[in-house]
Amino acid sequence: MEADPATVVDDLLAARHSCRGFLDKLVPQDVLEQLLTMAQQSPSWCNSQPWQLVITRGPATDRLRAALRDHSGDSDGPDFPFPEQYTGVYQQRRRECGWQLYESLGIAKDDREASRRQTLKNFEFFDAPQVAIVTTTETLGVYGAVDCGVYVGNFLLAARSLGLDTVPQAAIAMYSAFLRNYFELPADRKVVCGISFGYSDEQHPVNGFRTSRAPIDEVATVYGE
Ligand SMILES: Cc1cc2nc3c(=O)[nH]c(=O)nc-3n(C[C@H](O)[C@H](O)[C@H](O)COP(=O)(O)O)c2cc1C
Repeated sequence: MEADPATVVDDLLAARHSCRGFLDKLVPQDVLEQLLTMAQQSPSWCNSQPWQLVITRGPATDRLRAALRDHSGDSDGPDFPFPEQYTGVYQQRRRECGWQLYESLGIAKDDREASRRQTLKNFEFFDAPQVAIVTTTETLGVYGAVDCGVYVGNFLLAARSLGLDTVPQAAIAMYSAFLRNYFELPADRKVVCGISFGYSDEQHPVNGFRTSRAPIDEVATVYGE
């Protein structure tokens, strides 16, 4: 019997979560190609498909990790400005997921040093053997970045359908100029975010929590007749 499409999508959406501890296990080349082929179906304004990715695997990821380690401390600033502040409900949600993260690792709320160390794991790609750096073209502006966001969402779901786990990372965009230079990207390629991906370390406590979502009546207003 054919699977109900809504159930398939719902199961994938429910199963995806941000993974922050990966196994040292490479995604096979053919699985990577399948993932990219699936994500490539993403829609974009005027079908412009502004996303481009540089992906490192295995030793290339290790070299990038080491290069970022040597460079870090010198943030060049992101290409797209980070949120100025989180207030009200956004601040609450940000705090809730931050506390869940630290609690999973046994980091006390006031332990700045331990939370800083955890934040720095972003730049080690949480030990993932693969990372994708997603860029857009400057000329398409905000909507080019929106198209990339749609692409990233589909990449995450397609990855889950292939048994892979992922974490999108705006943090990596703190080193946009460094990454452009490192990968010899043209000046008009703007870094949107990274995606570390691979196979989840299920035993790692950081992968043991799930974030909540607001009820739909807080996000959608439907007008009928
Ligand atoms: C655009 C974007 C940027 C993100 N940047 C980071 C990041 O830099 N580091 C990180 O650990 N998680 C990052 N996340 C993951 C979010 O924290 C996560 O999606 C959110 O807390 C919801 O949890 P879930 O993905 O497990 O459902 C990012 C997510 C998105 C969509």
